Amino acid sequence: MKATALTFPRGFVWGAGTSAYQIEGATKEDGRGPSIWDGFAPAHGDTGEVACDHYHRYREDVALMKELGLAAYRFSVAWPRVQPDGRGALNTGGLDFYDRLTDELLAAGIAPYVTLYHWDLPRALEDDGGWTSRDTAWRFADYARAVHDRLGDRVDTWLTVNEPFVQASLGYGIGLHAPGRVSPAETVFAVGHHMLLAHGLGVQALRAAGARRIGIPLNLSPVLTPDQVADPSATLPEPDARAVEQVDAVLNRQFLDAVLRGGYPAGLPDAHVRPGDLEIISEPIDVLGVNYYAPTIVRAEPGAPPNPAYPGVEGVRFSDSHVTATAMGWPIVPNGLSLLLRQLARRYPGVELVVAENGAAFSDVVRSGAVADADRTAFLDEHLRAVRHAIADGVPCKGYFVWSLMDNFEWAEGYRRTFGIIHVDFDTQLRTVKDSGRWYREVIRHNGLPVSRPKRPTLETVAARAGVSRATVSRVVNGENSVSPEIREAVLHAVNQLDYVPNAAARNLVTQRTETVALVVATSPERDETGIGTLVMTAGQAIQAAGKRITLLLADTEHNRSALVSHVESGHVDGVLLAPHDGADPLISRLYGTAVPMVLLGKPAFSSLVPCVDIDNAGGGALATRHLMETGRTRIAMVCGPMEQARVRDRLAGYREAMREAGLQPFLTVGEHTQHSGAEAMRRVLDDDPGVQAVFASSDVMALGVLRALREAGRDDVAVVGFGDVQAAAYAGLSTISERAGDQALTLARLLLSRLEGRPVSSALLSAQLIVRESSRA
Ligand code: FCB
Repeated sequence: MKATALTFPRGFVWGAGTSAYQIEGATKEDGRGPSIWDGFAPAHGDTGEVACDHYHRYREDVALMKELGLAAYRFSVAWPRVQPDGRGALNTGGLDFYDRLTDELLAAGIAPYVTLYHWDLPRALEDDGGWTSRDTAWRFADYARAVHDRLGDRVDTWLTVNEPFVQASLGYGIGLHAPGRVSPAETVFAVGHHMLLAHGLGVQALRAAGARRIGIPLNLSPVLTPDQVADPSATLPEPDARAVEQVDAVLNRQFLDAVLRGGYPAGLPDAHVRPGDLEIISEPIDVLGVNYYAPTIVRAEPGAPPNPAYPGVEGVRFSDSHVTATAMGWPIVPNGLSLLLRQLARRYPGVELVVAENGAAFSDVVRSGAVADADRTAFLDEHLRAVRHAIADGVPCKGYFVWSLMDNFEWAEGYRRTFGIIHVDFDTQLRTVKDSGRWYREVIRHNGLPVSRPKRPTLETVAARAGVSRATVSRVVNGENSVSPEIREAVLHAVNQLDYVPNAAARNLVTQRTETVALVVATSPERDETGIGTLVMTAGQAIQAAGKRITLLLADTEHNRSALVSHVESGHVDGVLLAPHDGADPLISRLYGTAVPMVLLGKPAFSSLVPCVDIDNAGGGALATRHLMETGRTRIAMVCGPMEQARVRDRLAGYREAMREAGLQPFLTVGEHTQHSGAEAMRRVLDDDPGVQAVFASSDVMALGVLRALREAGRDDVAVVGFGDVQAAAYAGLSTISERAGDQALTLARLLLSRLEGRPVSSALLSAQLIVRESSRA
């Protein structure tokens, strides 16, 4: 029989993946040493201490894998379990666990794919510099050899270091992942280099020990402009082509070129690269693990604020596209995967490809012992079609691993984002195979996709289930009153059972309108009481004037935060206006996951589809700096912090830009968001440069400390500008950049009201305003 487009080549490997810290739990058992995530995770709200308790339930989990028919399972070995200090003595108890797991898998006919390192560095190594230290690469090679010594007789496929870009950028660059460090670009590139060096030394060690098949899993993402998302063949104007090129070099080619061509793309910092390193890194491999979730969407925009997750990239706007996204906010672009696979096969011929991760987070609901995750099934189906198309074009793709086998600890997102094809109830540890898992089992059984695509429930399916006409369903769904209560109930019951219309706008229609809007306010050191008052009064009045009620919810304690998420989730409000703690506040994604329309005060740390209102922080920084120049000052320092906040980094970027334009040397002191820290920072500035003439502080609170230190030093000649226009600024005679709290609140209310009426809205950036008081008079 001629193979149809939907059947996969014989021997295609069907798998699923997990990683140690995300599922194992048992972080203190049988001699495991601490890893960098052990301390980091709890400090950020969640912990992997129990996770899926896989360490104790691995037998049950392997039985589920067998039930799904998996041919292979990709898991990672926890370095701190095997070598608690990251060097020296091995921990037999830890190795025993992987020994048992491997045997259990083989007995079930499942091939183990072992990842040696998936981000859980032993803390002892971090204390010695972690991946900023070259030595860690040699430690990794020793550890790799030790694991091979134990499992090499039964494991064929070895994957070295998972996604070095992500650990370097999120872990060491912006501090969103463990170890939580914030470092300059050079360090981030050095970390990436050392992880690659670990990979290369690992390949040598494994090869020498007789390993049969070795590879590296990289996060790879085709870089596209919004136009190309719609039409991949779109030709790009020169500036956009340059933007794409820059991001591609940092995100993809930094790793691909080094491993598969033995060189870094031109223009990346390379002070840390020593002779011979690239030969080690480009040690031949057998398989490239392709971890694909979404394209990276960019366009050229001169002067765009730098994205700290992409060090060195300039003049690029990381934009949202208008395509549908997963609960992570990642755009769903299946043909991005075929594009990527074809590109890889063309640019790096001779290496086998395996999709080592692909999958999606959606909010799941368990109903009567089942999870009807039609969105996830559709996602997997479409991406597998993309893989099949690439294979038809001659791409040597030999396998596909769903991320993830089961719901687990999703790093910075904790347990809020679930990627599993098996649902895990984290209170009871009960596993439930989701509909997507059942569907995957059929795919595996047929070695291909069913001829017709999995269907989302339609109006017809709902009508059939409820025993009414299509027109009746549509009347109920549109909230019309002309339907009897019993019929309405029957329809809504069918809608719920079938999980019909999971998307936000439509869900809002099927659930009754409450005519109530939630104002969710998290405490934030920068938002003083006046700021909160203005927000609540101004936005509140505007929303009430439109005939809606307001519920004010304070996101202060963890208890209140969870309670308010459930409140929103259970349909008590039509919309949410959120003032988060800061752009990285997990509340943003938690509330986004409820699918209730939302607008946001301040830009989120990561590009997202939630419309937001913000002040132009970079513009404000430049405005403050230029104002100080106009008063005749040239030695202008900046007191800046806390650096993990995007708005602070943007203000800094504005200052730098204005200084650069004027040919002046920027001079920076970093502190925390307190008066005390502002004063300390100012004293350091005075010590380092007694000739300093002016200071721009990234917040009023710090600026008040700056003023105090200047007064104490008798330096009333130094001009000061702050940022925020808190009430105390007026009393202190502090010049400042106004955040225009009232305008922001009004704009937010307007955006939310438009969203509730189903009109498309986009984010708003308000221009900053300067308020001149005594502190910066000429
Ligand atoms: C990848 C990680 C994996 C999981 C998925 C969603 O970057 O390798 O552990 O977090 O993303």
